[in-house]
Amino acid sequence: MDEPSQSMANMWPDLIKKAKDGGLNAIETYVFWNAHEPLRRQYDFSGNNDLIRFIQTVKDEGLYAILRIGPYVCAEWNYGGFPVWLHNMPGIEMRSANNVFMNEMQNFTSLIVDMMKKESLFASQGGPIILAQIENEYGNVISSYGDVGKAYINWCASMAKSLDIGVPWIMCQEDDAPEPMLNTCNGYYCDQFTPNNPKTPKIWTENWTGWFKNWGGLDPKRTAEDVAFAVARFYQNGGSLQNYYMYHGGTNFGRTAGGPYITTTYDYDAPLNEYGSLNQPKYGHLTQLHNILRSMERTLTYGNVTSTDYGNSVFGTVYSIDNTSSCFFGNANVTSDATVNYQGVDYNVPAWSVSILPDCKTEVYNTARVNIQTNLMVKESNQAEDEPASLKWSWRPEINLEQTLVQGKGQVSTGMIVDQKVTNDVSDYLWYMTSLNVDKDDPIWTDDMSIRVNATGHILHAYVNGEYLDSQWATYGIFNYVFEKKVKLNPGKNQITLLSATVGLQNYGPKFDVVQSGISGPVEIIGRKGDETIIKDLSLHKWSYKTGLHGLDNKIYNSDSKFSAQWNSDNLPLNKMLTWYKTTFKAPLGEDPVALDMQGLGKGLAWVNGNSIGRYWPSYMAQEDGCSTEACDYRGSYYSSKCDTNCGQPTQRWYHVPRSFFQDGVNELVLFEEFGGNPTLVNFQTLRVGTACGSAYENKDMELSCQGRPISAIKFASFGDVQGTCGSYHKGTCAGQNDALSIIQNACVGKETCTVSASESTFGVADCTEDISKRLIVEAAC
Ligand code: GAL
Repeated sequence: MDEPSQSMANMWPDLIKKAKDGGLNAIETYVFWNAHEPLRRQYDFSGNNDLIRFIQTVKDEGLYAILRIGPYVCAEWNYGGFPVWLHNMPGIEMRSANNVFMNEMQNFTSLIVDMMKKESLFASQGGPIILAQIENEYGNVISSYGDVGKAYINWCASMAKSLDIGVPWIMCQEDDAPEPMLNTCNGYYCDQFTPNNPKTPKIWTENWTGWFKNWGGLDPKRTAEDVAFAVARFYQNGGSLQNYYMYHGGTNFGRTAGGPYITTTYDYDAPLNEYGSLNQPKYGHLTQLHNILRSMERTLTYGNVTSTDYGNSVFGTVYSIDNTSSCFFGNANVTSDATVNYQGVDYNVPAWSVSILPDCKTEVYNTARVNIQTNLMVKESNQAEDEPASLKWSWRPEINLEQTLVQGKGQVSTGMIVDQKVTNDVSDYLWYMTSLNVDKDDPIWTDDMSIRVNATGHILHAYVNGEYLDSQWATYGIFNYVFEKKVKLNPGKNQITLLSATVGLQNYGPKFDVVQSGISGPVEIIGRKGDETIIKDLSLHKWSYKTGLHGLDNKIYNSDSKFSAQWNSDNLPLNKMLTWYKTTFKAPLGEDPVALDMQGLGKGLAWVNGNSIGRYWPSYMAQEDGCSTEACDYRGSYYSSKCDTNCGQPTQRWYHVPRSFFQDGVNELVLFEEFGGNPTLVNFQTLRVGTACGSAYENKDMELSCQGRPISAIKFASFGDVQGTCGSYHKGTCAGQNDALSIIQNACVGKETCTVSASESTFGVADCTEDISKRLIVEAAC
């Protein structure tokens, strides 16, 4: 892990506040074992790792907390949150009834529990923590562990119970959770979930608001309508508690991104985007839903339930107590809208939606009718500087390269090829070095010799006798490959140096912890002569190893590094491997979040004032296929690739730099470029709402906001059956008679927010046919 800093912790209060404003009453978090116990029995709860401070911040906002200790957490987090030193403990078998593992797991879990108790943070002590979690989705993999799996989960339950926290423990995705553990659900929909114990409340620990991204993969999107549908249906069908995963996914700073190949961004299409800004309409549409559900708390909690099946996947549910009742009308049909007649009144329920009537008379919410603006964000150049032209770059090659490339000098050596995890994962990089003596009499000596390396990923750079040969890396989901390249050997001694780089260790799957990493071998020299092939296996040679890079070891990304003076300002090399680049800049003005545009670079690591902003890899293009040109249809079951975007673009071009990473005056950006790239296009940008598209169905209010800026112009406004999407609206077959554009201009331009009622009394009669739900649609420039 990179050194923790105070910086990210500074973002917590604002994010938690926004979650509260979004109508949430609890914050769920994982606990990351590898962050807190980076070395065995050496703990880190400082800065960003200050778990107590996090829970206190949640408490200070008046919210509950759910503590998912795990300590296996998955989470697209490096190695699922396990410290890699665990893997190297003799005799260990992870997530299994194995004494070595259980001892470590119990040690860490009780440490966390004790810390919480000491600060009185459990609800049983008057604190905010209402639930705690042990293990994570073990039920998904238990069958691969045989009988030991069952013994392990029983042990987890009794160990957790013995910690006596005074609030319930949950085990998500664990069908046979032993009592008193509560089995909970994770997924896109959990309305059909039934816990194994009839006394267990129906709890949804992970409602996936979108999905994560891999290098080479696309940007998953999930519509606001579909997430709202899933939530409303869950509560219609007796749900007690649901948690968004993610509500804010943020950024995998440092080397925290999991694997294989999880990107630095963990935006997740969550209601709060990677930068902490509102992802509209998702944030607002769900906020309205939360507020309505909470207004029905009494009927939902204590009411008697009656359900009616109207046929064709249409269900009505009434919760009533005393003289009050609340109704849900749900239509799970994918294509046909429904009319529900309840107590003599007809209610239209669109396909794949739920209507909520808190008093069983007036529909106040339908999951498919969005009365919230859509935001389109824009990126602006850094107003404090004229970037990228003003950025003056200096550079230096990686330190002491000749030691590995020419001398093959490592820190340890052994007679075999090792898994990269032996290094305890202190770096992405491991050098594998060996030498080979051949003379011209050797049977392998031909004019057609190659080196062949079996690798299990992720990235391999090969050098022979100090000369770069070639590189290869796993692409598009194939994580084992064979590297083969022609070589010219010298008679006598030849130095073979292979640099392996990992891009996040496996974090999910049965026995994910023993998935190989680095160079698996064999490594062979192949000589071909006519139809004869001679193979020399180097796997059992003496191999020397060096972990990491000298530049990383010496932290040359910090301005106080002893190498800080040794940078060149002339002859800036472009597309040169293993090169360090440095520049200074002024922080962008204002308060808007900041992104670093890494266009032109290959792959590597980046730091702003010594804070790691994560791995970058803009040269890796997302796959070409799988994006639709049509707007995403919210109807029908969601799956992670249903509404993908970003085909054929860099997987990740922009990287979040938290404002708190900056300082007044001069700031420093340092890059370690592994593949070779061109830094001259790199620049800082700020993000803000560029276009806001207001939307309101008839007789609802259309609220429009440029979020802290005045509305500068209205580009489109119409009340009727508007077609298209934000950015490309056009009038439909019918529209109110009055001039909608000037009405909205008068009401909104120059203001930060405005509210206009979507009604015929404002916009005039719209001659729409009966089956059309009229909407006011506005497109504003911010
Ligand atoms: C779940 C897991 C989470 C996360 C999620 C996908 O299976 O519990 O930790 O990995 O999938 O984002």
